[in-house]
Amino acid sequence: MSSKECILVTGGLGYIGCHIVVKLHEAGYDVIILDNLSNTSKDVLSILNSMLKTSLKFYETDMRDKIGLEEVFKNEKITGIIHLAAKKSVPESVNNPIDYYENNVIGTMNLIQISEKYKVEKFIFSSSASVYGDLYNVCKESDLGLSPVSPYACTKLSSELILRNFCESTNTKHSRVISLRYFNPVGAHQSGLIGDFSKLTDFSNLFKVIESVVNGQKKSLSIFGTDYNTIDGTPVRDYIHIEDIAEGHVIMLKYFDKETFKYDVFNMGTEKGYSVKEVIEAYMNSNKIKFDYNYIGRRPGDVESIRSDCSKIKKAMGWSCKRSLDDMCKDSYRWATQYISK
Ligand code: WQD
Repeated sequence: MSSKECILVTGGLGYIGCHIVVKLHEAGYDVIILDNLSNTSKDVLSILNSMLKTSLKFYETDMRDKIGLEEVFKNEKITGIIHLAAKKSVPESVNNPIDYYENNVIGTMNLIQISEKYKVEKFIFSSSASVYGDLYNVCKESDLGLSPVSPYACTKLSSELILRNFCESTNTKHSRVISLRYFNPVGAHQSGLIGDFSKLTDFSNLFKVIESVVNGQKKSLSIFGTDYNTIDGTPVRDYIHIEDIAEGHVIMLKYFDKETFKYDVFNMGTEKGYSVKEVIEAYMNSNKIKFDYNYIGRRPGDVESIRSDCSKIKKAMGWSCKRSLDDMCKDSYRWATQYISK
C-alpha cells in the first residue's frame, strides 16, 4: 500500500463490521467507523480500541442523514468504503418493508452519491446470498432471474442494481463498486472478545440462538421445519466463518488496483452446505456439550437448500475460506461463554 489508505466502514460496530475493522487495522489501513448504534453499542468501540491498542475514529451517523454523512467526507480523506450499515432481519423486513427500503436502499444511494462527489474510487457493498431466493441450490453470480423472497433480500438486490447502474453511467467519473454476496456469516474472532453483539430476537439467526442457549439466555432451541427435501429434512445453508469474510474484504480491496472494471459482484461462501441438524450436532461435538432442542413448523420465508459456487472470487483473487465448521462452532462457543450480552 503506497500512502496509507483510509477506509470508511459503515456499520463498523456491527457483527460483520467489527471483524472487518480488526483485519483492516492489522493490514495497515487507517479505519474510520460510522454507525447509528441501532443494533450495537459504543462498548464495541471500546473493545476494539483495547484489542488494537489504538483509538479508532468513530462517527455516530445515520445513513438517511445525507448532511451528517457528508460531514464525515469533509473531515476525512477517505480512499475506500466498505458499506455494511443496513437493517438485516428478514422477519422484521416483512413487517416494515418501507423502513428497510429507507435504511438499506436510500441509505446506499446517499452514500454512493457523496462518495462520487468526494472522488472515492473503491466501494465494497455488503450484499447477501438471499438475493438468489429459492431458485438455485448452488448459486453462481451469473445466475439470471434472481427471485429474492423477503423485503430485506429485495433491498439488497435493489441496492446492487442501483450501484451497478450508477457505476456504468457516463456521468460517473470515480466510483467503482464490488458487491459481495455473503452466505451465512457465523462464528467469532478467535480471541472471544468480539462476536455477534446484536440483540436476541424471536427470529435471530441459528448460531445466535445456539449462543444464547449455551450462555443461558435461552432454555432451548427450536428447529423450524423437518419436512424439507434435504438429507435429514432440515434446511441446508452455506455457513462461513466471520473471520474468512473479514479477511476476504481486505483481499478484495486489492482487486481495485489489479483490474479495470466499473462494477463487479462475487459470492463469499464455503461451497459446502450443512443442514440445521448437522450444525447442531457439530456444535455439540466440537465443544463436547449437550443442549436441548425441539422441532416446530417451518419459518415463513426460509428457503430449502442454498450454497455458494465461489469459483469466480477464487479465480479473481485466489480467495477461498480457510476455516471449517468445527472452527466456526468452537469460536462461536468461546465468544458465547466469554461474553454474556447485557
Ligand atoms: C438458518 C437456518 C432457519 C434459527 C439469514 C438472512 C441472510 C443472512 C443470514 C444477512 C434456517 C434455521 C434458525 C432458529 C432454526 N443475513 N433456524 N431455529 O435465514 O439462512 O439467512 O441470515 O445477510 O440474508 O436471510 O439464516 O441463521 O436465520 O437460519 O431452525 O432458532 O436455521 O430456519 O433454516 P438464514 P438463519
